[in-house]
Amino acid sequence: MKIEKRPYSLFSDEEKIIADEYNESADIVFALGDARETLAKCPSGFASLIITSPPYNVGKEYETQTRLEHYLELLDPILKELVRVLSPHGSLCWQVGNYVDASEVYPLDIYFYSLFKKMGLHLRNRIIWTFEHGLHCSLRFSGRYETMLWFTKTDEYTFNLDSVRVPSKYPGKTNFRPGPQYGLPSGNPLGKNPSDVWRFMAKEWETGLWNIPNVKANHPEKTIHPCQFPIELVERCVLALTAEGEWVLDPFSGVGSALLAAVRHNRRAMGCDREPKYIEEAKRRMEMLFSGELPYRPLGKPVYQPTGREKVSQIPQQWLIGEKGA
Ligand SMILES: C[S@@+](CC[C@H](N)C(=O)[O-])C[C@H]1O[C@@H](n2cnc3c(N)ncnc32)[C@H](O)[C@@H]1O
Repeated sequence: MKIEKRPYSLFSDEEKIIADEYNESADIVFALGDARETLAKCPSGFASLIITSPPYNVGKEYETQTRLEHYLELLDPILKELVRVLSPHGSLCWQVGNYVDASEVYPLDIYFYSLFKKMGLHLRNRIIWTFEHGLHCSLRFSGRYETMLWFTKTDEYTFNLDSVRVPSKYPGKTNFRPGPQYGLPSGNPLGKNPSDVWRFMAKEWETGLWNIPNVKANHPEKTIHPCQFPIELVERCVLALTAEGEWVLDPFSGVGSALLAAVRHNRRAMGCDREPKYIEEAKRRMEMLFSGELPYRPLGKPVYQPTGREKVSQIPQQWLIGEKGA
């Protein structure tokens, strides 16, 4: 096993212990290899939060598309290992979209729900992650959400709602029912529950500068990976579902977005991916986090709303001419 120490920040003496496989004293683990083999070397119950977006079987550069049943069979042993390494007080957040075959849609969360339920997990929320942009479909409505199933292993689980409250729309609302609370504020001064519908940017072109030609480079977190997590989506789960010093595990960690979210909030982080280039990119991003240079979209930053003055917000001249001529 390779272990090294890295200074955590330019402004403190704190060091992080980085390993390439699970180690009790490590702070961060970047494990290169197959998830099943990597998990087999981890102790039962170590992970307080498992958060991941598995391959969807849609033919991305890192996967070979196969029949849905076969894809689920391949993942089954990994799911069993995940349930084993999950702490009795822990949570598993499983983020997926659709598998599409011959234009027929198979929502993957439906399949994974039954698999995890059979393994004894309890569903707490089916979170809708909605975004405004993506492929434009012509044979069905364009898909604009994916889901994240939040399971716990038992009924005794961590849920720090206060750490993830969001500003109330009407903080000045008061109790109107007669009684001792009448006229007093009815909300929570820390804000409201963020609900089970989350709106985080999914793609780089959802940022503000729509009229820049190289929009692909426009999302502050964009890397070489074709479908990475926004860090803020993971941050909300890390804050709500774990305590400082606990382990956050992403068994399909790609370029390490979940690890970055965990480390930013003083949790220990373990990621596994079988593609060396993603592991290298994850390490590079971690170094950038340490040096304060990680491009990052902070949790809670409002999603950009076009003003109507951007070139791309305006009706093309050709269409206006068409209208006049019609
Ligand atoms: C949807 S991506 C995850 C992206 C990640 N959430 C991020 O923010 O970068 C799925 C990842 O799983 C990896 N992968 C697929 N099958 C794997 C396996 N059996 N073991 C380990 N990694 C695997 C792929 O290389 C890919 O990076």
